[in-house]
Amino acid sequence: MKRAKSLFIVALLVVFAAAIAIAAENKGAKNSGGEKITVDGGSKGVVNFPHKIHQDELKDCNICHAKFPQELESIKKLKDKKELKKMQVMNEVCLKCHKAYKAEGKPKYGPINCNGCHGK
Ligand code: HEC
Ligand code: HEC
Ligand code: HEC
Repeated sequence: MKRAKSLFIVALLVVFAAAIAIAAENKGAKNSGGEKITVDGGSKGVVNFPHKIHQDELKDCNICHAKFPQELESIKKLKDKKELKKMQVMNEVCLKCHKAYKAEGKPKYGPINCNGCHGK
């Protein structure tokens, strides 16, 4: 009897854990963030970043989010904490890719000039 009871409890726990895992997964799938996000661009002016175009084009979130978490203003917070340098994301993520795509001769590569991103 005792054994059957503990088996039952174990089974319940397994079902419960699975439900939590599924809920967490659904939440992840839903929160893909805004289609357009205004990123602080310091003295050069805001960057109106087309998030969804990039998600659709690149598929892999970590191309960018390996450097900063999936939260609004996360880049600014990391810069304030000196965990990211000024213009580090701009140079090592954004421009790096746009320039590489251009050099590879890809037809679509995104802006390389300052005003293509800033103040628009
Ligand atoms: C080309 C770069 C890039 C890619 C790829 C990318 N993101 Fe983002 N994401 C950003 C930037 C930039 C921000 C804004 C960060 C800030 O405000 O400091 C952001 C912010 C977010 C936010 C918080 C903002 C909001 O509107 O809630 C979420 C959530 C997010 N991204 C999810 C995702 C997911 C999920 C993927 C993959 C499907 C993804 N991102 C792919 C660049 C990217
Ligand atoms: C592909 C888009 C893009 C282009 C092109 C671009 N920037 Fe940026 N820039 C950003 C983003 C995103 C940020 C905020 C993240 C960061 O600081 O790395 C930024 C931040 C900045 C900052 C603020 C840094 C701070 O923390 O105070 C300055 C200044 C700046 N850029 C100047 C320039 C100049 C000058 C050019 C042209 C030579 C340029 N940017 C081209 C996207 C771009
Ligand atoms: C791995 C490659 C890659 C990365 C990283 C990337 N981009 Fe782009 N970006 C592209 C491509 C490709 C396009 C052209 C998309 C199109 O025209 O459909 C583009 C287009 C753009 C455009 C122009 C969109 C339009 O409507 O014409 C802006 C602005 C831009 N990117 C800003 C940024 C900023 C800011 C970052 C960094 C936070 C960034 N990109 C990171 C590949 C990238």
